[in-house]
Amino acid sequence: MSQPAPVDPTATSAWTRLTELAGDWKPDLRAWFAAEPDRVERFTYTAGDLLVDLSKGLVTDDVLAALVGLAEEAGLAARRDAMFAGEHINVSEDRAVLHTALRLPRDASLVVDGQDVVKQVHEVLERVYDFAQKVRSGTWTGVTGRRITTVINIGIGGSDLGPVMAYEALAPYHQDGLECRFISNIDPTDAATTLAGLDPASTLFIVSSKTFGTLETLTNARVCRAWLLDGLRSVGAIGADDTAAAEAVEKHFVAVSTALDKVKAFGIDPDNAFGFWDWVGGRYSVDSAIGTSLVVAIGPERFAEFLAGFHTIDEHFRTTDVAHNVPVLMGLLNIWYTNFLGAGSHVVLPYSQLLHRFPAYLQQLTMESNGKGVRWDGSPVTTDTGEVFWGEPGTNGQHAFYQLIHQGTRLIPADFIGFANPAYPTEDGDTDVHELLLANFLAQTRALAFGKTADEVRAEGTPEQVVPARVFTGNRPTTSIFASELTPAVLGQLVALYEHITFTEGAVWGIDSFDQWGVELGKQLAQQVGPALAGDEDALADQDASTRAMIGHYRELRRR
Ligand code: F6P
Repeated sequence: MSQPAPVDPTATSAWTRLTELAGDWKPDLRAWFAAEPDRVERFTYTAGDLLVDLSKGLVTDDVLAALVGLAEEAGLAARRDAMFAGEHINVSEDRAVLHTALRLPRDASLVVDGQDVVKQVHEVLERVYDFAQKVRSGTWTGVTGRRITTVINIGIGGSDLGPVMAYEALAPYHQDGLECRFISNIDPTDAATTLAGLDPASTLFIVSSKTFGTLETLTNARVCRAWLLDGLRSVGAIGADDTAAAEAVEKHFVAVSTALDKVKAFGIDPDNAFGFWDWVGGRYSVDSAIGTSLVVAIGPERFAEFLAGFHTIDEHFRTTDVAHNVPVLMGLLNIWYTNFLGAGSHVVLPYSQLLHRFPAYLQQLTMESNGKGVRWDGSPVTTDTGEVFWGEPGTNGQHAFYQLIHQGTRLIPADFIGFANPAYPTEDGDTDVHELLLANFLAQTRALAFGKTADEVRAEGTPEQVVPARVFTGNRPTTSIFASELTPAVLGQLVALYEHITFTEGAVWGIDSFDQWGVELGKQLAQQVGPALAGDEDALADQDASTRAMIGHYRELRRR
């Protein structure tokens, strides 16, 4: 079914209303909190196990009502329903967008393009679970009969960021004696440092690539295959012949891809390949077989809980009215900040070291999805899209870039994420160290919201000439996301929350959040620059003057 033309959000009456509200905008969180005793209650929501407090955001009832109106006028609910139904809402690639089907329970059914996708999903999951159990139990051994102790995921973008982020986040759930590592970058340093110190006999590689055509991943897979075979041969563990190599690859390489023919051509046994489907975008694929390394690390039961967490938020997003729908409200608030209050970026600050790769993961999810300048019908967008997402775990960020968030000239909405229960409870004397972390979370959101006036600074005895430098304006918006602890289910909920925030923003802007054509030109040009670097004079002549000059410097400096 072809998709209806996008609504121009700027032509809606809600946009006009929001423009009016932004025109006289004088945020005053101190006054709002004083005047509205129920503000926290009114602006606090729950979705699954997540408590989400928007009260320290730059939001009033009028703004919220207008944003809800915008969602309605922009046709958000219809687009959401089209996604869940498997319509081809990824127009430029003519594909359904069904990552939500990856987490449907086994007894659900969803027929898309004539196929029951839930059945397919659970068939693959069973195979992944079976494989992971064999590795975890030691039944799966390397070619010499040694137990596998290190699993290396080779992949990039969505075939890396999700697995590594979730692996790190769920460290307390890892099986002892079984480590996962990740190789993504084409920089040979990545493979070299990741492989350092490992024994090929106990190392297993998972080559993860949706297309199985990505330069970085295939190059790294070949480098790792050579490392494996050289290592095994150097100690006489396998012979020098092709049959011995093929047997070793069979025991030490598995693959995850939608292109199973290419997996076979690489030399990986199709029995050791786990498929997924073109309706799963790379950045939405951690909950598909792309998560195989995670299943090995945490086990099938925990992975099933992870999927159930996603599903909880999917159901919340699918069924909750706009005014209480957390991902919708957070997405709409981002539109308010971006399109009406001039924010250009959005910082995500997990007060959990376990989530240290979460901002990097979100960068692909949000920016590859919504960094678009045309709408899904090919017409130009009518307003700014795609904020820059960034972040670091607190409190590291506090000692690095928070200065700019507190006192800089730019508006930077911030999401704070924290948990009541630490993964590693620790006392420092009588002090619960986790409470020091949470005290910082709460103090930062207070400081950003309420600031410090010149009079308050003076009252501390500050010399007059330093007073301006020590004033905090406040009215810097934060959203606090809080849960009991970072379980697999809660992690799934967090990821799904941001997936649907991203969806909401893209739907209002009228863009296809599921293609990524913007990454293609650089890939194409790299194919042309490569020969020029390697010495092809014709290829060098085809480059622009700056690129030619850089290649000249490179040739002078490169030692072989
Ligand atoms: O180049 C961008 C991209 O296509 C991402 O969207 C994707 O996650 C990544 O490359 C890796 O692609 P693949 O899984 O096909 O190797």
